[in-house]
Amino acid sequence: MVNQAMTTFSRDTEIFCNEEVLREEYQPKSITARKEELKAYKTALQPVVNGAQPRNIFLYGKTGVGKTAVSRYLLDQLKQDTQQFDDVDLSVIWLNCTNLTSSYQVAINLVNQTREPENRISTTGYPQQRVFDLLYDELEAMGGTILIVLDEIDHIGSDDEILYELPRARSNGYLETAKPGVIGISNDFGFRDDLSPKVKDALCEEAIHFPPYDAPELEAILQSRVQEALHDDAAEEGVISLCAAIAAQDTGSARQALKLMYKAGELARAGGETTITERYVHQAQAQVEQSEIEHGMRELTRHGHLSLVATLHLALENETPARVREIYPRYRTIAEQSSIDPLVRRRMHDHLADLAMLGILERNSRNEGRSGGQYYEYDFNVDLKLVCQVVGDLEGFVLPEEVLQHA
Ligand SMILES: Nc1ncnc2c1ncn2[C@@H]1O[C@H](COP(=O)(O)OP(=O)(O)OP(=O)(O)O)[C@@H](O)[C@H]1O
Ligand SMILES: [Mg+2]
Repeated sequence: MVNQAMTTFSRDTEIFCNEEVLREEYQPKSITARKEELKAYKTALQPVVNGAQPRNIFLYGKTGVGKTAVSRYLLDQLKQDTQQFDDVDLSVIWLNCTNLTSSYQVAINLVNQTREPENRISTTGYPQQRVFDLLYDELEAMGGTILIVLDEIDHIGSDDEILYELPRARSNGYLETAKPGVIGISNDFGFRDDLSPKVKDALCEEAIHFPPYDAPELEAILQSRVQEALHDDAAEEGVISLCAAIAAQDTGSARQALKLMYKAGELARAGGETTITERYVHQAQAQVEQSEIEHGMRELTRHGHLSLVATLHLALENETPARVREIYPRYRTIAEQSSIDPLVRRRMHDHLADLAMLGILERNSRNEGRSGGQYYEYDFNVDLKLVCQVVGDLEGFVLPEEVLQHA
């Protein structure tokens, strides 16, 4: 028998009864607050139910507004509801295109998804048309109606041939019996605008926009998740609406609202509390922001990182706030020592402006005495320790001695 007094871990069930439900990857059993989008989506899928050639659908909207969750929910329903019709044989192939940067890679992944592990093909070395042909063979062998969901499709960038090929495969005579339909999902508005006219025609037969959620919608979404995830009364009155309000004002993303709620719960649990109070929501907000800024710092471009290191160098010498003309020479030196061609000052200044926009730097405009010119001063908006930590993990740069000592 385990001696209770000896255990390091025990179950903490005071706040959460099922915390999984607050995780982003949890698929909700019902969809809240997306009535119109669901209606449009259902109408667009109706040909599938009728056994006809499916329409191609394009879903777009900012991050966290339910595009993936609604698609999963509705396609599950569709699969269930079409089982009663003998003349509808529906398959759904779901591909997340994150990290797939070309039509070729998407096609290979689709082929491999339809094959058993031992028959998968190598991800390089085939001519593009050969891969498309293999894909058509697979689809034809599968037969029936095949919905191909390409989530995060914007990752393929301008190499979008497959978005023309797949929707047109049947009319172009590549398929005889299989009826494919493509559902493209993207949170990149530029991607949609930049699609070539022929792709737009093929793919965007039905385009459905998912707008950001407002506060009452986020509150309703949270409410239904919290009901399953937390014990009754574990969230103090006002906590759910506070999370909803913060997320609505910032992004309108359900993901952000859920993250705040979950984090607030975790903080309350760590504090040994039995209820989540508003104080924990504010703490959670600060922590979430901090981790987003850290993520933003890590994801910068090379010149963004160089600009960051240059400003850090000055900050460590107590030389901030600093102007571009002070930061730029440091930037040049670090670039040259790292064997990177430096940008001209004006272009490097754009990177400082980006750092300010990301909340990493604070930027203030100043007036130059009587001569009347205006200039900007930059200083860090985040803990230098955090910056040093991020900078210390960077590869491919020769860091100044002072920075190295702190990193
Ligand atoms: N209407 C809704 N009802 C219930 N849960 C929702 C709803 N909308 C979003 N969610 C939840 O919010 C989170 C984010 O939603 P989802 O992943 O669908 O966003 P997305 O639009 O696909 O974002 P991205 O573009 O970043 O992929 C998920 O955990 C999802 O379950
Ligand atoms: Mg998604």
